Amino acid sequence: MQKTIHIGCDHAAVDLKNAVIRQLEERGLTATDHGTYTADSCDYPDIAHDVCSAVEKEQGTGILLCGTGIGMSMAANRHQGVRAALCTTELHARLARRHNNANVLCLGARMTGVELARAIVDAFLDTDFEGGRHQRRIDKLSC
Ligand code: RB5
Repeated sequence: MQKTIHIGCDHAAVDLKNAVIRQLEERGLTATDHGTYTADSCDYPDIAHDVCSAVEKEQGTGILLCGTGIGMSMAANRHQGVRAALCTTELHARLARRHNNANVLCLGARMTGVELARAIVDAFLDTDFEGGRHQRRIDKLSC
């Protein structure tokens, strides 16, 4: 996994995004913050497309946060080079990496508290893709 993580949120998730950025920095990673930065209402697809374009270009890793995580994951998965996973448990995050080689983690700030979110982020970043039969399945994702 690269040392730079692209991260973005909508107005519903600014506080959780800031907590995740601090966590990434504690881990020695660089967070490239694509906004939003305030509680003023904005449209989550704008942020998702910014983050996911950077992830595709760099073959990197992203984290997207909105109220539920659902809108961000829908927008993110429109990108050919993105496999985004909305995770509400550490197990989701581990399996999203191990089996799906997810490169974007989505979190719902109105659903998931900060301590659980931190654990999910750690699980996502600490788990490698298993390859093998899972690669064959990933190759069949595009239609
Ligand atoms: C914003 O109110 C909310 O709709 C958004 O954060 C997200 O939950 C959408 O999926």
